[in-house]
Amino acid sequence: MRLNKFIAQAGICSRRKADELTLAGKVKINGAVMDQPGYDVQDGDKVEVDGRLIGAYTGGKTAQRKVYFMLNKPKGYITTLSDEKDRPVVTDLFTDVEERIFPIGRLDYNTSGLLIMTNDGDLSYRLSHPKHQVYKTYRARISGVLGPGAEARLKKGVDIGGYVTAPAQVKVIRQAAGSAIVEIKISEGKNRQVRKMFNAVGNKVLDLERIAIGELHMGHLLTGHYRKLTREEIEYLKNC
Ligand code: URA
Repeated sequence: MRLNKFIAQAGICSRRKADELTLAGKVKINGAVMDQPGYDVQDGDKVEVDGRLIGAYTGGKTAQRKVYFMLNKPKGYITTLSDEKDRPVVTDLFTDVEERIFPIGRLDYNTSGLLIMTNDGDLSYRLSHPKHQVYKTYRARISGVLGPGAEARLKKGVDIGGYVTAPAQVKVIRQAAGSAIVEIKISEGKNRQVRKMFNAVGNKVLDLERIAIGELHMGHLLTGHYRKLTREEIEYLKNC
């Protein structure tokens, strides 16, 4: 079995992330660094990721019950699994979940809102693949006024530093004296994309929250809380 598939099936992370960890020299096979993502795991191989033994390949599947949650991520948490600055990690919030879950996709340290957490590496791989990019809805509080020109530019696509974004859906929810609340739907997932898009049209993002992934809405889930996804919601994501 290919190394990235083995790591994903063990519930460590997505296949893509497994490739990144492998190339970064963080994966060992039988005690020796293995930096070839295409390595074919052999019967009896002991696989370590980031210093942690995740299992020996026995030719069969690493059977683990698949679990799926939605979390309302608070600001001040990172979505990667470890951090050199020792900041809180989203998995810290799952005190009563035994499975080794990880987030699908990422949200910035200062972004709050909807995050899917699972140990299903295949679902994570599918949803993160550019071919399947499902649109995500963000609610942003921005500085100043979003004028008609800026709104039209966001809708058409803006240059965020060498990359022109795909057309977005934009709706001004409320305009107050010095700030505005705007909902924006995008289907790409470039690093800090929403913040960069508003910067490109002259507005600073003051607060950012993800409120939906496709048709999966966060609803009234409180900040820092999580719940299991329903069977229908899991099916929906699997068919995105
Ligand atoms: N866009 C951002 O700028 N930040 C996020 O966390 C998600 C999308």
